Amino acid sequence: MASTAYTRPSKPPGPAGGERRAPRLAKELGRIEPKKLGIGLVAGCCLALLTYLSFARLFAIYSPVFDSTSLVMKNTSPATTTTAPVEALPQKSNDAEDEKDATDPEADPTIPDLAEQEQKKEQETRKPSSGGGGGGGGGGGDAIEARITCDENGVDQGFPYARPPVCELAGDIRVSPKDKTMFFVNPTGAGPFDANGEKKIRPFARKDDFLLPGVVEVTIKSVPSAEAAPQCTRRHRVPVVVFSVAGYTDNFFHDNTDVLIPLFLTASHLKGEVQLLITNFKPWWVRKFTPVLRKLSNYEPINLDKDGEVHCFGAGHLGLYRDRDLIIGPHATRNPRNLTMVDYNRFLRRAFGLPRDAPAVLGEKTGARPRMLIIERKGTRKLLNLGEVRAECEGLGFDVTVAEAGADVRDFAAVVNSVDVLLAVHGAGLTNQIFLPTGAVLLQVVPWGKMDWMATNFYGQPARDMRLRYVEYYVSEEETTLKDKYPRDHYVFKDPMAIHAQGWPAIADIIMKQDVMVNMTRFRPYLRKALDELQE
Ligand SMILES: *[C@@H]1O[C@H](CO)[C@@H](O)[C@H](O)[C@H]1NC(C)=O
Ligand SMILES: *[C@@H]1O[C@H](CO)[C@@H](O)[C@H](O)[C@H]1NC(C)=O
Repeated sequence: MASTAYTRPSKPPGPAGGERRAPRLAKELGRIEPKKLGIGLVAGCCLALLTYLSFARLFAIYSPVFDSTSLVMKNTSPATTTTAPVEALPQKSNDAEDEKDATDPEADPTIPDLAEQEQKKEQETRKPSSGGGGGGGGGGGDAIEARITCDENGVDQGFPYARPPVCELAGDIRVSPKDKTMFFVNPTGAGPFDANGEKKIRPFARKDDFLLPGVVEVTIKSVPSAEAAPQCTRRHRVPVVVFSVAGYTDNFFHDNTDVLIPLFLTASHLKGEVQLLITNFKPWWVRKFTPVLRKLSNYEPINLDKDGEVHCFGAGHLGLYRDRDLIIGPHATRNPRNLTMVDYNRFLRRAFGLPRDAPAVLGEKTGARPRMLIIERKGTRKLLNLGEVRAECEGLGFDVTVAEAGADVRDFAAVVNSVDVLLAVHGAGLTNQIFLPTGAVLLQVVPWGKMDWMATNFYGQPARDMRLRYVEYYVSEEETTLKDKYPRDHYVFKDPMAIHAQGWPAIADIIMKQDVMVNMTRFRPYLRKALDELQE
């Protein structure tokens, strides 16, 4: 059985080396996104969902979460509180939508230019603050220079949520959770403050107008002297990072894109010497990701929603830096240390104690058998002929495990880290690629529906950035259960972009709900390619 793995013939005909980018096998494609069910639909929330979906369409945002209506219900505030809708939108959103609509289905539609447009507004002020007073700043007793920089107006074309506001402060900072306020001793009063000397931010690392009303707002209040600020009851010798875990957390994709990676980007250079102050505190979430939080901070996180102390710091952040989804790009101020996803993967391995940094070295000498994990989906986008795929993989010499992520992150991370190839149908489960050894292979099965934008931006490009080998397989119209629901001359097959043009309800209803049955004649070469990639 293992012979195929050891003595590989020449490359398979299908997906040749150069095709990684986009196999473009005809116009097959597609699909949206993840999250494994679990939580039931809450009655009465349909309205909120619809609102959400229509906003999403306006924003032209594709998110893995749309798949999971339950999440929307669970973590967001009422739709009625949605703020700043259309008018506030930069016109780019419409452009993205137009562009998509106008695009020939064969052309690569909405993948935006990586070059982002920045409109960064920074305000800085430097001035020594009065030291001592009602309890002075951090250590040393010397006056600390008061400094605040806010990065609020960054724009990333096509990814309107990717530039959340962040303020960086240094000086005499006193955080009073009960006031939801960071008092900032700032004698000159200079800085990005309103007439009341305040700056308000909802510190969630996804700038999403639908979500933000559910995020606790935190105020930075500029005060002229230490006397005007509350007395410190606890002093910290380390900086603080204040952030929210509201939003779509509990979807593993969003846990990473909207919180953990932003935290890594913002605080990992502090090597644990940082105090995390969390709002919209969810004990279960903090428990679930304790290994990551411990790796980031040597101190117990503080619950900003409950705490009654006044915590004093000499420096800190309100909000988190972030980038695209499972992507960390270079940026002079938001990523000055040039962190990459490869760094994030390494960090996670240390946090979870995962042993493998590289995939198995195959071959007769090592006797190693390549290992594959197939992540099973049980709700939508099931791989109907999983058994057949598994048998084929075993025939190629893979040692195959079929599993679904459970509640324990470390357990599943260990399973993922133990394999060389991860195979899954498009969905949040693919986020688990973050635990693969560098150089392992990710094989994404993309269902029908012209879903290449999502396939690429949520999982394909991230895989490349993590230095994984990436293989994608777009199912044909013969391989989707949509063929049982729609006639072949329906626009679902003739013009899948028409589904996208209708917005999220249509995408969720049609594209999200299909299952796939891969044609082994077509699919086999991709499995071989996965094996080949491992041996390169
Ligand atoms: C990050 O990359 C830039 C551009 O290549 C370089 O100038 C800078 O020195 C790098 N910074 C660090 C901390 O390595
Ligand atoms: C599977 O794919 C092959 C190659 O494209 C094709 O010839 C064959 O008809 C397909 N089988 C089915 C059942 O569609």
